[in-house]
Parts: sequence; structure tokens; C-alpha cells
Amino acid sequence: MNETFERWQSRRAFILAVTGAAVGLGNIWRFPYMTGENGGSAFLLLYIVFVLLLGLPMMMAEIMIGRAGRRSPMQALAFLSEEAGVTPHWRWLGLFGAITTFFILSFYSVVSGWSIEYLIGSVNGDFVAQSAPQIGASFDAFLLDPLRMTFNHTLFMLLTMSVVAVGIKSGLEKLNNVMMPLLYLILLVLGGYAVTTDGFGEAIRWLFTPDLSAINLSVVLNAMGHAFFTLAVGACALMAYGAYMPSDQSLPKAVLAVALLDIAVALLSGIAIFSVVFSHGLDPTEGPGLMFVTLPVAFSELPGGQIWLGAFFMLLLVATWTSSINLAEPMVAMLVGRGWRRGRAAALIGSLVWLVGLLSVLSFSSLKDVHWLGDMNFFALVTTVPPDIFLPIGGLLIAVFAAWQMPKEAAASALGVSPAGFAVWQVVVRYISIPLTAVVLLSSVI
Ligand code: PFF
Repeated sequence: MNETFERWQSRRAFILAVTGAAVGLGNIWRFPYMTGENGGSAFLLLYIVFVLLLGLPMMMAEIMIGRAGRRSPMQALAFLSEEAGVTPHWRWLGLFGAITTFFILSFYSVVSGWSIEYLIGSVNGDFVAQSAPQIGASFDAFLLDPLRMTFNHTLFMLLTMSVVAVGIKSGLEKLNNVMMPLLYLILLVLGGYAVTTDGFGEAIRWLFTPDLSAINLSVVLNAMGHAFFTLAVGACALMAYGAYMPSDQSLPKAVLAVALLDIAVALLSGIAIFSVVFSHGLDPTEGPGLMFVTLPVAFSELPGGQIWLGAFFMLLLVATWTSSINLAEPMVAMLVGRGWRRGRAAALIGSLVWLVGLLSVLSFSSLKDVHWLGDMNFFALVTTVPPDIFLPIGGLLIAVFAAWQMPKEAAASALGVSPAGFAVWQVVVRYISIPLTAVVLLSSVI
């Protein structure tokens, strides 16, 4: 369990890597459909509150542990608990994180495969002059085709694991540098288009007029889980990136920049998608297919729409790629820390995740009505329980370790803040983030 001496090549590289992990399907695909299914503005409001009160301080805690431990998550936790003189069982938290990322990656790859399908479709001009119902019907037909979905899922897993196998820092830094700014640019174009649609006013009203009556326990739980998911917090995946963070970089500043950008991307996609929903009389509660139906409709109306659509799916693919690399990294790092060769570890993890992903693929056809828990089929289960339950549990434990178990000096120096700043962080984590997460989790169990 030796210390790693690898570092991100620059400050910007670290911020880009964490942004790459945070911005992904969560912002562009999951946020709009969760908002649609959970009453619109109520969900949005809670999500922002949770990002600020839980996500931000816990993200700092998680990255700080990585930076203090300078090892893969499980080993960092083992090392730091020994240093702090507390139980070595904290290391199992690293394993719990790996299990969480395993299941998240299994569906993440399948849905990212949908973007590959749509990228190819838009290059082929499949959506030219298609009406909204036609586009909806072709998405439904696609879901019933497990072979096509498996092909795309396989391709995406190969893309992800080939970068992880080589080592994230060589490929990832360059990719991020170019692609992320382009993604923001195209989202801005999409936002600009949304303003011109008839549904824009209604979308804004629906998203931003607070409707407290729509808040219930399940909305609260979903919004909390989504805050963790979108920031990539709670699975020890950011901990793995923190291990490569230079010692002199300001952690709070980096984290704040990432969180604000993450919210901005989600809001922009939400506004764009719901403007289209309302101007075409589509259903906001459509579920996981929402983005794949609304965006082709939106772009088919823009001049040169197919090119924009193709570019959008291309960039979405890069955004999901950088997130899935982050999801895979801690699992691979765990095996590498136990003496495995990186390539072999990536091949093994990739194959296992791929296999489990097939259950999600089949959840739209032959396994559609096979219920694993309540009325949830595998896809519903795996897109709900790991993000909404496992991530908050992981985040909670990470926060307890950081704010109650680590010696003050070690934590303060790894956070890179003044004593006063440390005191504020500690009070927020100890007395707001941890109890709030616990209360929401417990009340949803009861
Ligand atoms: N934050 C990613 C997204 O919004 O798409 C998903 C994610 C990545 C969740 C990494 C958890 C994680 F550890």
C-alpha cells in the first residue's frame, strides 16, 4: 500500500477531471426526467438545496480523504484509520463504493450506448422531417431490440475500459481539455433555441414557480440521491481522483467551481428539454426516454439540425465517457493496489460490468416484467437504488470519517483551508450534512 506519486499535470487538469466525472448523464439525461417525474419545481428546489448543504461539503470530504491518503480508496481509508488510531474497518467503505460504482456503471454504459445509437442515427439523417410521435415510436422500437442495444453497450464499455487500462491521466486530460468547453457551447445554442419556442414560458414557470405542495418523502429522497449522483459523490470515485491532486491547490475553490458548473449544465438542459416538451404537447413524466425523444424533435426544427444533433450526441458521449472512466477507476485501482496489472484489472472489471449491463438491456424486452423489488424490473432497480440509496449512505460514512475520525490537523491540511475555514466546514458537515442525510435515509426506510 505505497503512496502514489502521480499527480494531475496542472490545476486545470484536476478541475477538468472532476468536472468530467460530475457532468454526464446525470445532468443531461437523468435530471430532466427525474424533475419530470417528481413534480418539477419542487424537485429542482430540493436538488439545489441538497447540492449546497450535502453535496458540496461531502465532496470536499471525499476528495480530501483521497488527497490525505494518496492511495486507492480502500487503501487510503486503511492507511488513514491506522494513522488516526481508529478501527481499520473503515476500509470496507472503499469496497462499498466499488460495489456502488459497479452497478451504476452497468446501466450507465447501456444508456450511453443509446447516445451512440442516436449519434449514428443523426449522421444518417434518421430524424429529418420526423414528427414527435414518429420519433417517440422509433425510440420505443429501439428499446425492443436487445441486439442493437447490446452492440452499443459493448462499444461503450470498450471505449471506457481502454482508457482506464492505459491509465487515466495520459488520455483523459487531453480529451477533457477540448471536449468539455464544446459541450457547454452546444448547450448554450440549445438554450438559445429554447427561448424561441412557444413552450419556453411554460417551461420556466413549471421549473421555477415553487410548488411546495408537490413535496413528499419520495421526492425528497430522489432529490437527495440525485444531488449525490450528479456530483459523483458517495462512491469513493472522487476519492480516487483526489489521490492525484497537487498539495498546493485550493480544494474548496475547485469544488465550488465544479458544483456551480454542474448545476448550470443541468438547468440549461432542463430548460431546453422542457421547452420542447411543452411546445409539442409531450409528456414531462415520460421517464428515461425523455431526452431521446425531445432532443431529436428540437434539433429537427433548427437550421442544419442534423449536424447540431450529431454534434450534441458526440459531445454527450464524451461527457458520459469521462464519467464512466471515473466510475471504473476506483474498482481498477483497488485491484492494481493488490498487485494486479492495470490492463488485466480493467479487462476483468469491464467484462463483469458488461455482463450485468445485459440485464438492463433485457429490461426493455424479455425481462421487462420480471420484478426484482416491488414493481421494479432490473433497469428500474439499478437506476434507483444505487444512486438514491447507496450513494447517500456512502457519502454519509465518508463524511463521518472525515469530520469525526480524522485528526483535525491532517484533515485541515489536506483540505487546504485556514483554521477558520476548517471550523466552518467541520460544523456544516457534523451538524448539517450528516444529520440531514441520515434523517432522509431513515425516514424513507421507515
Ligand atoms: N456524476 C455522473 C453524472 O452526473 O452523470 C455520474 C456519476 C459518476 C455518479 C461517478 C457517481 C460516480 F461515482
